Amino acid sequence: MAIQFTLNGKPQTVDVNPNMPLLWVLRDTLGMTGTKLGCGISLCGACTVHIDGDATRSCVTPVSSVAGKKITTIEGLSTDRSHPVQRAWIEVDVPQCGYCQSGQIMTTAALLAKNAQPNDAEIDDALKGNICRCGTYQRIREAVHLAAKLAGAPAKKSARLDREEPVEQALAAEAMQVGGTL
Ligand code: FES
Ligand code: FES
Repeated sequence: MAIQFTLNGKPQTVDVNPNMPLLWVLRDTLGMTGTKLGCGISLCGACTVHIDGDATRSCVTPVSSVAGKKITTIEGLSTDRSHPVQRAWIEVDVPQCGYCQSGQIMTTAALLAKNAQPNDAEIDDALKGNICRCGTYQRIREAVHLAAKLAGAPAKKSARLDREEPVEQALAAEAMQVGGTL
């Protein structure tokens, strides 16, 4: 069955079983392996993509349900790592093994698109379903605040970033402090 949708800004048609999970289509049919398989049962968040702007678990999303919709994967967030969330993740050096991180980044990008200045509680709530076995949660929270700052919104509750100094200085100091405390 041919199913059409928009993938990372471009029209896409796939001819697959309509019940196939979107994650399988992305990885196996289209060869886009940035989105990861963790649990496969909507428990870990590794497979998170955006569907019409909402962070969605592609492992339990039948491809037929995305017909006509706009899907964004980690590959489509930017073409040159310039998205504020990507920049923040790099500056804070968030990943350890990295397996969960595309899901963490996609969930964060969806959060910041709806809430440009999330506080710690809002960050924790938005990301509570994204599991990191390496325990990078502290760096993730720091990076979300930094991404908000880079996107032009002052962070609410980040003492490290609540300073009157250029962003590049804040980035350098942030990276040093994060690196020195972990
Ligand atoms: S792989 Fe989809 S939530 Fe774990
Ligand atoms: S960085 Fe290893 S699971 Fe999150």
